Amino acid sequence: MTEILSPDASGIARAADLLRAGDLVAFPTETVYGLGGDARSDIAVARIFAAKGRPRFNPLIVHVPDAAAAAGIAVLDDRARRLAAAFWPGPLTLVLPSVPAAGLSPLVTADLPSVAVRVPAHPVARALLAAFGGPVAAPSANPSGRISPTRAAHVLDGLAGRIAAVVDGGPCGIGLESTILSLVGPARLLRPGGLPQEALEACLREPLADAAADAPDRPTAPGQLASHYAPGAPVRLMAGAAEPGEVWIGFGPGTGDAGLNLSPGGDLVEAAANLFHMLHEADRRAAAGGGRIAVAPVPARGLGRAINDRLRRAAAPR
Ligand code: TXA
Ligand code: MG
Repeated sequence: MTEILSPDASGIARAADLLRAGDLVAFPTETVYGLGGDARSDIAVARIFAAKGRPRFNPLIVHVPDAAAAAGIAVLDDRARRLAAAFWPGPLTLVLPSVPAAGLSPLVTADLPSVAVRVPAHPVARALLAAFGGPVAAPSANPSGRISPTRAAHVLDGLAGRIAAVVDGGPCGIGLESTILSLVGPARLLRPGGLPQEALEACLREPLADAAADAPDRPTAPGQLASHYAPGAPVRLMAGAAEPGEVWIGFGPGTGDAGLNLSPGGDLVEAAANLFHMLHEADRRAAAGGGRIAVAPVPARGLGRAINDRLRRAAAPR
């Protein structure tokens, strides 16, 4: 059921068509195989989390063909431009302030005001980005908690039947994920990876704080922070009905206020795709009415685990 595509023109064209349809395609990069989906499509990005079985909506890396395309979704300052000129295309991911209204799904950024951007060097990845013509969200193409795939066969071991296709481009050259550097504020190394820290320091002309090493007990992935985005209104979970003054987000038939049902049919992928949009909309309505937000129960299976994780953070005392 998962198509195995050759890395030639016809395989790339087929892969780009699948991405356009909102389907998932695994493809080789010089670091590891990525599980790609249209970064502008809520459903495609929700499918990435579903296929990986991720228990949390950690933000994903957005892959683009060059620094000019990166500038369409992120704000590149002087440091970013210097690093991009030196190391893109290549195994460097930059976390940058995002350009508002750039059209990315809020699931890609976990609704943060920053975005992780990477310009891969692998010829197959570059051909796919060119054929598709848009930003591609891609975490490593493995089930959550398993090791990253460096061959198409590894991808199939973990994800066969759960994704539309894999482009077989042979083994990855680097075999280790990209180095992630945050340039939101002072430069911080978020993940050591395929590009050595020394190379970054030489280019930036300053030593780098390793955010992970500085505080091993503090999560550096923002999706893991208790409250990186919380609605302004208080949130009540497991709400079987709305109480007076509440804006109700539903799940399943006959629940929720008008336009605020995560999935009337109880589909968890659809619910994930709607989650951030509906939290924003409920917050807007609650602010107008001085009320709070109530959310119907969402089953804790499949993507429901990530949805509930996010909802618990939204409802956490602050
Ligand atoms: O080599 C790679 O980077 C591979 C290939 C496929 O490109 N991709 C990859 O993606 O490793 P993933 O999703 O496994 O790693 C994404 C990492 C996560 O640790 C996430 O927390 C971090 O990037 N990240 C993404 N957006 C972020 C943001 N806005 N702020 C901080 N960290 C972010
Ligand atoms: Mg990974």
